[in-house]
Amino acid sequence: MSLPVISPVGMDLPAATTRSLLATKYPGAIGAWVAEMALGVSEPIQEALLREARNGTLGYNDPTSIQLGRESVSRRMHDCYGLDVAPEAVGFVSDVVSGFAAVLRHYLSAGEAVVVPTPAYTPFLTVPKQFGHPVVEVPGTYGPAGHRMDLEGIDRALADGARLVVLCNPHNPTGRSFTPEELAALARIVGSHRARVFSDEIHAPLALTSRRHVPYACVSKLAADHTITATSASKAWNTAGLKCAQLIFTSSSDAARWNTVADFYVRSVSRLGVAALVAAYEEQAASEWLAKTLFRLRSNNTMVADAVAGNMPGVEYQPAESTYLAWLDCTRLGVDAPAALFRQHAAVAMCEGAEFAGPGYVRLNFALPEPVLEQALTAMSRVVREVMRQ
Ligand SMILES: Cc1ncc(COP(=O)(O)O)c(C=O)c1O
Repeated sequence: MSLPVISPVGMDLPAATTRSLLATKYPGAIGAWVAEMALGVSEPIQEALLREARNGTLGYNDPTSIQLGRESVSRRMHDCYGLDVAPEAVGFVSDVVSGFAAVLRHYLSAGEAVVVPTPAYTPFLTVPKQFGHPVVEVPGTYGPAGHRMDLEGIDRALADGARLVVLCNPHNPTGRSFTPEELAALARIVGSHRARVFSDEIHAPLALTSRRHVPYACVSKLAADHTITATSASKAWNTAGLKCAQLIFTSSSDAARWNTVADFYVRSVSRLGVAALVAAYEEQAASEWLAKTLFRLRSNNTMVADAVAGNMPGVEYQPAESTYLAWLDCTRLGVDAPAALFRQHAAVAMCEGAEFAGPGYVRLNFALPEPVLEQALTAMSRVVREVMRQ
């Protein structure tokens, strides 16, 4: 099979887009693997970054900028999700994965096991082990209504001694937005074992249906008391390189413990990241940019679903409810590494499901300009039909 050469030339794409498209890791392929959007960055964020540069304030963070960031996050949690959290209960870390590592370090005892419902974002599977915590994988199920966590399996893992459950809501890679009922059921199980939850809600603003995001900490007092929530503006506003994420403490004792180490973690937060966060959360034009981006993502999600249903026999897709990630079930293709197949024969670079403990699946990032996504889906359809013919 000859590989099409993907060129952004003539597609009228902003420079920011082309980096993702060219995806230096896989030259010549459409980059649909790493979770960042090839859809540019909003004006208010560009302006905020330029302002810092023009003012010559590219130095260290200072308490004033962090305080502004805390207040902004506190306001957003209240206004968007009804989660009341004081600015002092918002901790700053460089990124969500570092925040996860910090939670393992400061809120678990040595060697305590971590429950990871699968499929799962890869660092949830790897980071605990790097910090000396065994991982208990609990595979979820797939039904007509999509992916579900195995709550009984989680219950058993906690009964066997695991102390922390990693929740990813909205879920990477399946795109599920868990319902308040599912979250409340999880909270009852975790509460009955007096265990904890690390709730990664980085994709919260990226809701693709009419259902509003519900933070896990909002479903009950029980949940709030045993949860540390992680969030960031970086996925929805496309600023992952700016290094600024938050841990939200809804237990006062957890917040007090964090305040003994917070200074250390603030050192690795970028001042530019805080400026971008404040612009994203406070400026009307940034909200409008997100609304437009969500419109494009919804349309792209439908495009993926239609292409899979119409032109990819043997592949199945439960459309994502949130995120810009499509979790494509390729198990019926009968190939060991479907992402490698698509990379080699369709020049589309996606993530291999096995990296998420979901072998046979691929994760497609559909936050691409429409013509590029169309090109990717056409090439993938051709490969699928050829594989199914053999
Ligand atoms: C669920 C989830 N959490 C965390 C991250 C990474 O976030 P950060 O760069 O802040 O560590 C990603 C990135 O893809 C993600 O999908």
